[in-house]
Amino acid sequence: MVARNVDLRSDTVTKPTEAMRIAMANAEVDDDVLGNDPTAFLLETEMARMMGKEAALFVPSGTMGNLICVLVHCDVRGSEVILGDNCHIYIYENGGIATIGGVHPRAVKNNDDGTMDIDLIEAAIRDPRGELLYPTTRLICLENTHANSGGRCLSVEYTDRVGEIAKKHGLKLHIDGARIFNASVALGVPLDRLVQAADSVSVCLSKGIGAPVGSVIVGSKNFIAKARRLRKTLGGGMRQIGILCAAALVGLQENVGKLESDHRKARLFADGLNEIKGLKVNASSVETNMIFIDIEEGTRTRAEKICKYLEERGVYVMQECSSRLRVVLHHQISASDVQYALSCFKVMMTTNHLTSCLMDPICAVLFL
Ligand SMILES: Cc1ncc(COP(=O)(O)O)c(C=O)c1O
Repeated sequence: MVARNVDLRSDTVTKPTEAMRIAMANAEVDDDVLGNDPTAFLLETEMARMMGKEAALFVPSGTMGNLICVLVHCDVRGSEVILGDNCHIYIYENGGIATIGGVHPRAVKNNDDGTMDIDLIEAAIRDPRGELLYPTTRLICLENTHANSGGRCLSVEYTDRVGEIAKKHGLKLHIDGARIFNASVALGVPLDRLVQAADSVSVCLSKGIGAPVGSVIVGSKNFIAKARRLRKTLGGGMRQIGILCAAALVGLQENVGKLESDHRKARLFADGLNEIKGLKVNASSVETNMIFIDIEEGTRTRAEKICKYLEERGVYVMQECSSRLRVVLHHQISASDVQYALSCFKVMMTTNHLTSCLMDPICAVLFL
């Protein structure tokens, strides 16, 4: 019987808090497809205000949020979007921008910190004189924080520079801000300033904010009017969504203030992991709530085995590949959970080391 449950697979695994459930039960609702849901209106108004944009729209998921934004900016088939070769839209969203939107992705190398080199971005912009042959570049996408880079933050200076390039070439800038709250807190830059250069942002409520469902996209009034229509086309027009928006409003109140603590716990976790023989974390890359754990070469155990061992003790982590694990902190992980998970890692790796030694003939002799 496992005494504890420490779920570190993602910040999407949080359960709605008591206050969220009460707010959901009592939410004032109406038909949002008809534009009448007062709680959706409240959430969208608040999100638009926080992000410094004219308008906002609740959508079922971050994937749909990104898809809608890309499709609104690239409303002519054969449009091209410049994005990172390690970004979520390019890797994990079923190629929806291409299959559904007819948008061509132009992938530019993502650096380890989640940026793309500015000169590479500029070089990837198609020359309009070649329109007989080329797709037409219309959009640049950034991701902040950058998940596949371990939750690293794009600075406001970098974002502004990409915004300037976009403007210079008549392009739009979209930010996949699934974890933009984490970036804002870690950088100490207000949200509206951080995304000032962007024409649209997609923000997940079901990650650090802890809501059970949903994302919000923000942009100009005209952009959101088009987005609302596309959301309906994609089947994302829902009815009494105030029930979901009520939980998100509570999440904004309850959990934004806890992100700093999530980040602090992530750093402590990373430091603890680095003390365990056979594991390695690039501590300087732990800027927010994510940790990538590398299993050092020469260590006989693999990620799958570690996951299984931890699971049997109620600790859940994500396997990235056979030599890498991912851990994500969130508001339902306490400091004591971190210590418990660390102790499980430690025992696992120490036991494994001893077993490996025993299997090694020379060591076996020494242990006799
Ligand atoms: C960076 C990033 N963008 C977008 C998404 C998509 O969000 P959803 O799972 O709500 O579709 C995720 C989900 O993990 C993500 O990490």
